[in-house]
Amino acid sequence: MSFVAPPIPPGIVCAADYEAEARQRMDATAWAYLSGGSADELTLRWNREGFDRLRLRGRVLADMAGANTRLDLLGAPLEHPMLVAPMAFHRLAHPGGEAATALGAAAVGTGMVVSTQSSIPVEEIAAQYAAGGGRAPLWFQLYLQHDRGFTRALIQRAEAAGCTALVLTVDAPVSIRNREARAGFALPPGMEAVHLRGLPPAPPNRAGMAESAVFQGMLDAAPTWRDLEWLRAATRLPILLKGVTDPEDALRAAGEGMAGIILSNHGGRALDTLPATIDLLPPMAERLGGQLPILLDGGIRRGTDVVKALALGAKAVLVGRPVLHALAVGGPVGVAHLLKILRTELEAAMALTGCRDLASIGPEVIWRG
Ligand code: FNR
Ligand code: LAC
Repeated sequence: MSFVAPPIPPGIVCAADYEAEARQRMDATAWAYLSGGSADELTLRWNREGFDRLRLRGRVLADMAGANTRLDLLGAPLEHPMLVAPMAFHRLAHPGGEAATALGAAAVGTGMVVSTQSSIPVEEIAAQYAAGGGRAPLWFQLYLQHDRGFTRALIQRAEAAGCTALVLTVDAPVSIRNREARAGFALPPGMEAVHLRGLPPAPPNRAGMAESAVFQGMLDAAPTWRDLEWLRAATRLPILLKGVTDPEDALRAAGEGMAGIILSNHGGRALDTLPATIDLLPPMAERLGGQLPILLDGGIRRGTDVVKALALGAKAVLVGRPVLHALAVGGPVGVAHLLKILRTELEAAMALTGCRDLASIGPEVIWRG
């Protein structure tokens, strides 16, 4: 596959610049889907405000010889602590879709999580990831389907394509998307969740006549804690649970054999008025006491945000919407450029807080004045 690489417009120097440019270029209803959150979008806003409120503590004259951003994540080496978050339908942003994203991410050594609802098959995404150098992990995000056999086959496809972990997303069995609904968002013709082709129809509601669209509708098929045992038996891959916000749920996940937690409020797209993820991090890190790695997403737009997340107990972070903005503007080149910008910002923030490696980024880098 080859991609037309439009030149990156001059003047794009940070994630916010990509957002402004992408907004000009994207179709208004696709923009509503991509950038929107749930209901009043308070959580969406708070994710950003949570980072903006935190201030950093600058340290001078630190010896930065041998400085690096390396880490091990689930036994695999990573050059820096950022991964591309799983997001549906990248073709809304660029005709090359997830394959273009994968090429851009791989080119700059960034891990990527492929969504169950991707608009390109995982095999093609993995091939582009490998073509780009593929030296960071490629993971697969799973939405458990009502049909176990279908779900098992999907897991096997992800394994065969070379994905090295499963990310089970558990926070969005339902969501109230007012912005999307107002804009009348619908997938354009020819675009679909390709992995869900051939999924048998859901069985009729157990309750017959539904009194509630939610309880007797979608939630009938939503997974529960009981399904984790089935999932562990269905794969040899490590499983991370994504969308956990409560410390007690995180602790339970550790007890259920999960390999990691992704502390996420789905970028403000699931339950509105959940706190910002950065505010949820300290209590979760304390409750887990290092039993499992915590990854965090929601509102990461700057290298300083990454430092703040690591300072408060995250092992790594995932970047969502900015990747799609960069994809819309510059295809794979845009994605690589954005990720490079974030990495450079992270390194600058480490240098100016006197942290020569990720292990040195502790709570003391947050200003407590
Ligand atoms: C998402 N997210 C998401 N999560 C997931 O587990 N599976 C999915 O298919 C999707 N799809 C999706 C589509 C779009 C358009 C967006 C914006 C988000 C949530 C995503 O993984 C992540 O949690 C948030 O996007 C992180 O927040 P930021 O970085 O976008 O603020
Ligand atoms: C979303 C779903 C696909 O956030 O997770 O739109």
